[in-house]
Amino acid sequence: MLNRLKNIAKALLAITWIRRVYEGVNRFFLETFGSSRFLTHFFYFFSFITFNREQSAVLRGRRDYYRNKKRTRVTHVELRRNIHRLEKGMSMRPRRDVFAKDYISETIEFYAQATAPSASGVLPERSELSWAHDVLAKYFSSISVADPVVDRARSAFESIPATAETSTPRRIPHPQGEIVNAQVSYEQLYALTRQRRSVRWFQEKPVPRELIDNAILAAVQAPSACNRLPYEYLIYDTPELAHKVASIPFGTAGYSNNVPAIAVIVADQANYFSPRDRHAIYIDSSLSAMQFMLALGTQGVDSCVINWPDFEPLERKMQKTLGLRVTQRVIMLIAFGFADPEGMVPFSQKKELDTVRSFNVLKAGREA
Ligand SMILES: Cc1cc2nc3c(=O)[nH]c(=O)nc-3n(C[C@H](O)[C@H](O)[C@H](O)COP(=O)(O)O)c2cc1C
Repeated sequence: MLNRLKNIAKALLAITWIRRVYEGVNRFFLETFGSSRFLTHFFYFFSFITFNREQSAVLRGRRDYYRNKKRTRVTHVELRRNIHRLEKGMSMRPRRDVFAKDYISETIEFYAQATAPSASGVLPERSELSWAHDVLAKYFSSISVADPVVDRARSAFESIPATAETSTPRRIPHPQGEIVNAQVSYEQLYALTRQRRSVRWFQEKPVPRELIDNAILAAVQAPSACNRLPYEYLIYDTPELAHKVASIPFGTAGYSNNVPAIAVIVADQANYFSPRDRHAIYIDSSLSAMQFMLALGTQGVDSCVINWPDFEPLERKMQKTLGLRVTQRVIMLIAFGFADPEGMVPFSQKKELDTVRSFNVLKAGREA
């Protein structure tokens, strides 16, 4: 018995020693290679595997961005981006007599491709085409100065048969004063944000799909870089599938079997032609996710975000389980359902206003 205890003590000492050595080596590498951007580059040259999945998604995404322009799709990112740019141009103060000359011709090409009848049977979103049509029509009607580039684009536009009915009211820029006030008070919104807490224990009741759809409708109203909306909500709401998907990430240990429904927010790097925009999928998806959860909350449905770290074995498992393309990145998972009133919810103290807010500070984040 004494010998056994001695052996356990030795093993614990060895573990502590190994951990200390590991931490020491780790600290040495971080202090050395983190000290300059050049050394950082050198470090990742040898440890390239760390970001390889993301790099692959970005590179293939850029490749697919150009490939996709030739394919029949439901929505058309390059058209969305350019129509957004036109709307911004039309909203400028003062508005230039002629603008968008450098991209109006390609926009008409994108529009022509999007409206062309497809052999594959894939139907494009009619609302997207109506929006594109209305904005283009407004653009051409608002440019009264003769310009060869714009005039050529106008003729090309007019020769494209209108496939989507124009909507009433038209989907074009409008004065802010016309937007109907939602009459949500600060107190109501603040109360909703305080009501939302991460809930991990749910009743076995299914969540009606109408409530899920309502929440997603609110989610897509979130701002998105160049209005691309690069994300999708993959919903799993049968007990079998919800448990299967919920059990993949580490963060649901102990409660994955209690999750009645789960959303996997997935976004596609094929929405971007430049690596400078590689962060947009995370930002856009997160802004949308918050609206999704708040909208669920207004309908009595609680939720919990589940972390999705960039960890290769889990990435591979999720990719295989959901059938994702390499360009698609899982942003986060959100477990949701009707809360079990007996289930415990952590208090989760927030930081204080003075800690997280500053005004007019120009040296934020700089070391003293
Ligand atoms: C990006 C992100 C990842 C999270 N990952 C997990 C997770 O894996 N498992 C979990 O139970 N909770 C997770 N949470 C929930 C947080 O623990 C929770 O939001 C935090 O403690 C604050 O509590 P509150 O949401 O109730 O305000 C995550 C939240 C965020 C925003």
